[in-house]
Amino acid sequence: MSKYLIASHRGRPGNDPIFALSKMAAERKAQGAAVTNATLGTLFDDEGRLCTLDTAVRALREVGPEQLASYAPIGGAAPFLNAVRAEVTGGRASLAARSVVVATPGGTGALRHAITALVGEGQAFLTSSYYWGPYATIASEHGRQVRTFSMFTAAGELDIAALDASLRQLLGEQGSAMLLLNDPCHNPTGYSMSEGDWQAVSEVVAACTTLGPVSVILDSAYAAFSEGSIERPIRALEAVSDRVLVGFCWSASKTFLMYGQRVGALALVPPDQADVADLDAAMLFASRGTWSNCNHAGQVAAARLLTDPALRPAVDAERARYTRLLDARVASWNEHARPAGLRYPRYDGGFFVTVHSADPQGQAAALRERDVFVVPVAGALRVALCSVPTAAVPGLVRTMADIVR
Ligand SMILES: Cc1ncc(COP(=O)(O)O)c(C=O)c1O
Repeated sequence: MSKYLIASHRGRPGNDPIFALSKMAAERKAQGAAVTNATLGTLFDDEGRLCTLDTAVRALREVGPEQLASYAPIGGAAPFLNAVRAEVTGGRASLAARSVVVATPGGTGALRHAITALVGEGQAFLTSSYYWGPYATIASEHGRQVRTFSMFTAAGELDIAALDASLRQLLGEQGSAMLLLNDPCHNPTGYSMSEGDWQAVSEVVAACTTLGPVSVILDSAYAAFSEGSIERPIRALEAVSDRVLVGFCWSASKTFLMYGQRVGALALVPPDQADVADLDAAMLFASRGTWSNCNHAGQVAAARLLTDPALRPAVDAERARYTRLLDARVASWNEHARPAGLRYPRYDGGFFVTVHSADPQGQAAALRERDVFVVPVAGALRVALCSVPTAAVPGLVRTMADIVR
């Protein structure tokens, strides 16, 4: 332990476990092993090549030298902010009119700003019991905590009663609460909330506002890969946006397969117009106090991709090809995994599926012995089908069924 580090920063786990596992898989592959690397949330085609969107790459290449080299405004470039605003509000003027949008380095930056601005130091935010691990990393790095509600009932439905009880309890303890939901194509389970799920969630959060201020943040990182996109959550959240602060973490990482550009945004919509200026100032201050400005070229390209009448349909059509690729893997998974006895939540699409496991660490290690790399999470194994060739899915299921059942 370094005596130079402050106590809270000693003994940190270091490299993110997902990236560490992926590195192990790459090392085995370099040794000539036939590896299935289902660790990273990065889309690879059936030949194992990184999927890119030509239109997105072109939009980046077409950014002029001045925009490439210059600082973006601290809060973000206006065309980018307006494009994201239109995207996350589904063009609803009522939401857009009182929205505050700030550029962030990816969805991770958006999560960081939401967590630090809406959750008090030492306090907790609520999310589902299965969640993307970095939620806890971001919380811990900033002296916040994660509280979870049991995500599924025994019947595999979203557990609304558990959400209700947990939200009420947190409000009772803290006097205010932030609920963070990742939908559609939830990471790690692959579950997409139904219209009914969203209706029930909106009723719960609206009822809870009698106990204190409630914010609901939607992490929509994978929305572009879902049929219907974020229409369902937007509709449900709009209905309660007169009582609840609603927020959206938008990311270009998956939307345009531009993970490395680190382009994202946080949009916050308070119930009351009077809060807009204060929220806006808080976001600008937070940006200056962390990363200052974000990637200018990436914002320029993303703004064009979202709004240009020629580029938008082109990039959407290209992405649709990859959505079909993912759908084929999902279909193959569903065809083989249920009969093989693997237990997992309803899986309609997206980058990941999660298999229930009594011993995630032990079973992930046993799978590694057979050169299958998956990510152990609490009570489950996360399988990144986005990086598994379609033809390899049945074999992956067989190996998992040997070990996980
Ligand atoms: C659930 C979820 N939210 C947010 C993100 C943020 O990604 P990025 O910071 O690359 O935009 C990811 C990335 O894997 C994710 O899986």
